[in-house]
Amino acid sequence: MRDVNKDNITDVFMSYLGPEMNPRLREVMASLVRHLHDFTKDVKLTHEEWEAGIDILERAGKISDENRHEFVLLSDVLGLSSLVDMINHKPGGTSSSVLGPFHISGAPSLEIGGDLKGDFENQILLAQGIIKNQTGDPITGASVDIWQTAPNGLYSSQDSNQDIYSFHGIQTTGEDGRYAFTTAPPIEYTVPSDGPVGDLLDACGRHPWRPSHLHFIVKAEGYRTLVTEIFSADDSYLDEDTVFGVREDLVIKYQEMPAEHFPEGFALSGTVKKNYLKADFDLTLVRL
Ligand code: BEZ
Ligand code: FE
Repeated sequence: MRDVNKDNITDVFMSYLGPEMNPRLREVMASLVRHLHDFTKDVKLTHEEWEAGIDILERAGKISDENRHEFVLLSDVLGLSSLVDMINHKPGGTSSSVLGPFHISGAPSLEIGGDLKGDFENQILLAQGIIKNQTGDPITGASVDIWQTAPNGLYSSQDSNQDIYSFHGIQTTGEDGRYAFTTAPPIEYTVPSDGPVGDLLDACGRHPWRPSHLHFIVKAEGYRTLVTEIFSADDSYLDEDTVFGVREDLVIKYQEMPAEHFPEGFALSGTVKKNYLKADFDLTLVRL
């Protein structure tokens, strides 16, 4: 086509797609470009605005490396990551939520009742629950991969003063399906905001904060892997998570408990002298 104009450019794009193209890729590309063209006409995008958009993408590319995933962050703050997660989530189990960029594979195993807090002086949070199926039966042999921020608000990969596996651990459930550990309560923190995504948030009058949360990846044979996080009901950012990760069923109230109620069977049993927090949260997996 040599007479391309603003009214036919979308159809011309479609006509350029080859006959051997993967049908799903055809569907995705056709829809993406149709929406992109419609958006461009809708807002009457100027050259300057187009350049500003390209600049964000170029800067995202330059700042990204194996530890910094600026394009993922862009997807997160646009709500794209959460939307992909929600439309692919099979109902019936615990809601899934964003993985985020701070998960580290190969965390050490943590015994049931083990402590994640290490030497950090902090109030204790005891987190526990049952990994179960949709009929409520406990799942044996489920792997529960847990990670969170340290009390300074940093993940281990952001903080050279922490061991790389600090506040990371993997538990394997026994016949009772139970996971249980002590830790320091996670705290609210900002997503990395010193790059183009931070500038975009700023320009949109948005903040970079996420409510405090504990991350989980739960895997068990015969079940869909669950990537999720749990949030404290008291957090002030619950209703404005900058990456749209909060779901009603993932919000729990941490209960304050007297020291003398601290149970047996934990690495810290017998050592707790101050009130502690308790979070009970069962996670339900859906069959494959
Ligand atoms: C996180 O939960 O760790 C996270 C998620 C999305 C973007 C940045 C951080
Ligand atoms: Fe996180």
